[in-house]
Amino acid sequence: MPEFKTSPGTRDILAPHSGRWRAFQDVFAHTVEAAGYSYIIPPMFEDLDVFLRLGETTEVVTKEMYDFHDKGGRHVALRPEQTAGVCRAYVEHRPITPWKVWYAGPNFRYEKPQQGRYRQFDQVGVEALGADDPLLDAEVIALAAKFYAELGLKKVHLSMNTLGDAGDRERYSQILLKYFSAHEKDLTSDSRATLARNPLRVLDSKREPDQKVIAGAPAIRESISESANQHFDAVLRALDALNISYEINNRLVRGLDYYRRTTFEFTSLALDAAHTAIGGGGRYDGLVEALGGKATPGIGFALGLDRTLLACDAENTFAAPTTAVQIFVVDTVDGRHAHELCHLLRQNGVSADRAYDLRSIKAQMKSADRSAASVALIIGSDEVQNSTIMLRKMGSGEQYSIARKDVIGEVLKALNVK
Ligand code: HAM
Repeated sequence: MPEFKTSPGTRDILAPHSGRWRAFQDVFAHTVEAAGYSYIIPPMFEDLDVFLRLGETTEVVTKEMYDFHDKGGRHVALRPEQTAGVCRAYVEHRPITPWKVWYAGPNFRYEKPQQGRYRQFDQVGVEALGADDPLLDAEVIALAAKFYAELGLKKVHLSMNTLGDAGDRERYSQILLKYFSAHEKDLTSDSRATLARNPLRVLDSKREPDQKVIAGAPAIRESISESANQHFDAVLRALDALNISYEINNRLVRGLDYYRRTTFEFTSLALDAAHTAIGGGGRYDGLVEALGGKATPGIGFALGLDRTLLACDAENTFAAPTTAVQIFVVDTVDGRHAHELCHLLRQNGVSADRAYDLRSIKAQMKSADRSAASVALIIGSDEVQNSTIMLRKMGSGEQYSIARKDVIGEVLKALNVK
C-alpha cells in the first residue's frame, strides 16, 4: 500500500480519461462562444462572505464549505460553485451589459463521497447578467441542450419551474411551513429537521414516506405574482418555439437559495436514481445586489463534468480521444540519433516519441507498439553508416529504407499527409 493516497472525494484524472475531460471543455467552449459568451476564470477561493450570499440556509453553505483563516487572518473559502464569484467579479469590474460569460473548473463541497458525488468536482457553466428578457432564459437553456446533443446524449430530461420573485418565494415558504407543519407527523425526521431550516427544501426530499405529503403540498404558481407568471409563460413559449421539450415540475426548488423566477434542471434518464442531476440553473435576480452591486438580473447554469460523463458512458457516446504520437523513433546505436530526429520531426509539425536509456531493440519495438504510433523510424549501426533510416509502417509491418536527408518528405508520405 502506498503511504499517500488521494484525499476522500478527490481523484487523479489520468489518460485517456483526462483527454476526455479536455475535449469536453473544448466542445463546451465552442458551443457557448458561438453564442457570444466570453471566457472568465474566477479565483478558486474568495472571502467567505461572498459565498454566504448563496443563502445561509443552504447546506452548501452551512455544512459543506471548505473555509479557513489564511496566514493574513482573512476568513476565506474554496468556491463551492462559480455563480457567486462571477457576480462578485461583475460588481468589481462593472462590465457593459449584457455580460455573457462562461467558465470551467473545479469546485469544492464537503459532501459524502460516492460515485458521481465528489468533494472536488468540475463544472462548466455560463452566466448572463444585465437582461431580464425571458428569451435570454430560453437561450441559456437551449445552449445547455445543444451542448448535451453535441456530446451525443439523447436521454436528457429537462424540468422547469418558477420560484417567483423575492417576496413570492418568502410567501410561498410561509404557506409551505403552515402546510407541512399541519402534516408534520407524516414526515420523516430528516424532513422535519429540514422544515425548521427551510420549508422549500422539504419538496426536494426523495424519501419514500414523505412523498404523499409532498404530493398534496400547494403549488408555487398559485402564490406568485402576475409578472413572474407571465415571465415563466414567456420562457416556456420561447422553448416551444425552439422545439425544446421539457416537463413542468412545480416541486423543483434546487439546492441554492439565490434562485428567483426561472429554475431548471437536467437529468439523465440513462443513470441510476442517485445521480441523475447532470446540470441545473436558473435566475438569481437578487444576487448582484446582495454582493453590493446595483440591482442586476442574472441567469445561468452549471453542468457537472463527472455526472455528464457518466451519462455519456451509459449512452455509449463521447469516447476518449486518441492521443497517439505519429512517429516512434527506435535508436539502437547511442540514443543521440533518436534525440535529434525527434527534435527535427517536432520542428516540422510531426509528433514523435522515443525510448530512453538505450534499451534493447526488442524493448524499444515494444514501446513503439504501445505508443500506437503509425510509423516507426529505426536506426541501427548499418543505417548510421549508410546515412539511411528504416521506415516501418506499424499497421502492415511493411518496411523500407529511406535516405536520412529525405526523412521529413518520406515520413509525410508514409503518414499520408498532403
Ligand atoms: P448545482 O445544482 O449545485 O448548481 O450544481 C450543478 C451541477 O454540478 C449538478 O447538477 C451536478 O451535475 C454537479 N455537481 C454538484 N455537486 C457535485 C458533486 N459534489 N460532485 C459531482 N458533481 C456535482 C450550481 O452549482 C449553480 N452554480 C448553477 C447555476 C449557475 N445557477 C445559475 N448559474
